[in-house]
Amino acid sequence: MIEENCLALSDIHGWYGESKALHGIEINVKRGQTVALMGRNGAGKTTTLRAITRQLTRTEGSITKDGQDISAVPRHKLAYKGIGFVPEDRGTYNSLSVQENLKLLPKVGNSGMSIDELHSFFPNIQERRHAPAGTLSGGEQQMLAMARVLLAGPDLILLDEPTEGLAPVFVQKIAELLQDLKKRGLTILLVEQNMLFTRKLADHFYMIENGLVVADFPAEELSENEELISRVLGV
Ligand SMILES: Nc1ncnc2c1ncn2[C@@H]1O[C@H](COP(=O)(O)OP(=O)(O)OP(=O)(O)O)[C@@H](O)[C@H]1O
Ligand SMILES: [Mg+2]
Repeated sequence: MIEENCLALSDIHGWYGESKALHGIEINVKRGQTVALMGRNGAGKTTTLRAITRQLTRTEGSITKDGQDISAVPRHKLAYKGIGFVPEDRGTYNSLSVQENLKLLPKVGNSGMSIDELHSFFPNIQERRHAPAGTLSGGEQQMLAMARVLLAGPDLILLDEPTEGLAPVFVQKIAELLQDLKKRGLTILLVEQNMLFTRKLADHFYMIENGLVVADFPAEELSENEELISRVLGV
């Protein structure tokens, strides 16, 4: 049987200490799809990515990548499973140079972009290669974070609000990059509150509220779900 789901989360429960934040999350991301995970502040979007990347005090439920159980794979080993993760705080090291940051992850696949392709996409990264990452602008840091993860050659990337706090020119750049990655067949799980941004990219939407998926629908059904989206996002 060919495994259609690249990533599958089933009945995920997650805790921070004694405090329970996820209450049975179900998400399926098919190979090659871009899936948007949406919800208000505090809904559990970041926590869902942390459950996948094993950063909670306790996580229960099944997490599979290409049908293989990855629920016990620690964060630093995810690259070897073809998973690239760009966390909220971007995961770059401020005191290391741009160039050094780009060398930290192991190269595990070839589905990602080459350094030359990334440089042509993000000329700022090339120009500032000797600068400490901490001196980059927010937009440049996001580009570095994406570049760093893509160089490892993942086939699945998890992104936590890549456009947050960025100027429109950077948001546009990230959108172009994601479109390009989609064309190359990369699978993307995108946490994003910017509906204008996800609308153009996502193939499927999951709405999350209080640590639970309350709805999911394909992009073709977006217009029928406008009311639900407004209610869940509180916009
Ligand atoms: N480190 C932590 N310790 C304890 N509770 C936490 C921690 N991080 C998040 N929470 C709680 O878990 C719940 C889900 O938070 P989470 O950060 O996943 O929300 P989110 O959907 O990513 O929101 P945002 O849009 O603000 O990023 C919230 O109630 C939050 O207060
Ligand atoms: Mg968050």
